[in-house]
Amino acid sequence: MAEHVSESSGGKGAPSRRKFFLITGWSSLGLFLSGAGAAFARYFYPGVLYEPQTTFNAGRPEEYVKPVNPTEVVVDERFKSSQRVWIVRSSKGVYAMVGVCTHLGCTPNWFPGEQRFKCPCHGSNYNVEGEVVAGPAPLPLFRAKIKLAPDGSMIITTGLLGIKRPELQYKKSTLLPRWTDEEKIDIAKAPYFLEIKA
Ligand code: FES
Repeated sequence: MAEHVSESSGGKGAPSRRKFFLITGWSSLGLFLSGAGAAFARYFYPGVLYEPQTTFNAGRPEEYVKPVNPTEVVVDERFKSSQRVWIVRSSKGVYAMVGVCTHLGCTPNWFPGEQRFKCPCHGSNYNVEGEVVAGPAPLPLFRAKIKLAPDGSMIITTGLLGIKRPELQYKKSTLLPRWTDEEKIDIAKAPYFLEIKA
């Protein structure tokens, strides 16, 4: 009788059941730990970076329409979606503006009637030089470098756009939404401005 009670309460079958549960338990724990370990290790590997090309050919400067009014600019948007760059033609030449809002990185839109770039996200407005005239953006729009290739076409270099800023952007001590006087001189000449004499 005592033997029967012992069996029904797990006497004879107990060791194998215990073994089964132990194996199952340890296997689950092992699986969980290896999954967590793999996820932890994956964290240290860089993800795929979907960055646009940092250098592209923007064609010849003569292709860009000169403004009729010398105080205005004509903004060409042909590289806006592929490179996030506008080619801006002023009466004196060409410059390349990076279309990444310096607030949180949205792409602003160009409004020719107002001669302003306006960011749809939080309302930052930039003038034709990329300086902030309204909104929370802390810095002017970045400027990309232009170099003339031997065939006369323009090679634009953006660096990594808003991720790693091109060298001429701002000085940490002067976090102004407008260019400093020194920067204004810099952006008005090569490699940030391509003069067109004709
Ligand atoms: S991202 Fe442009 S204003 Fe915020």
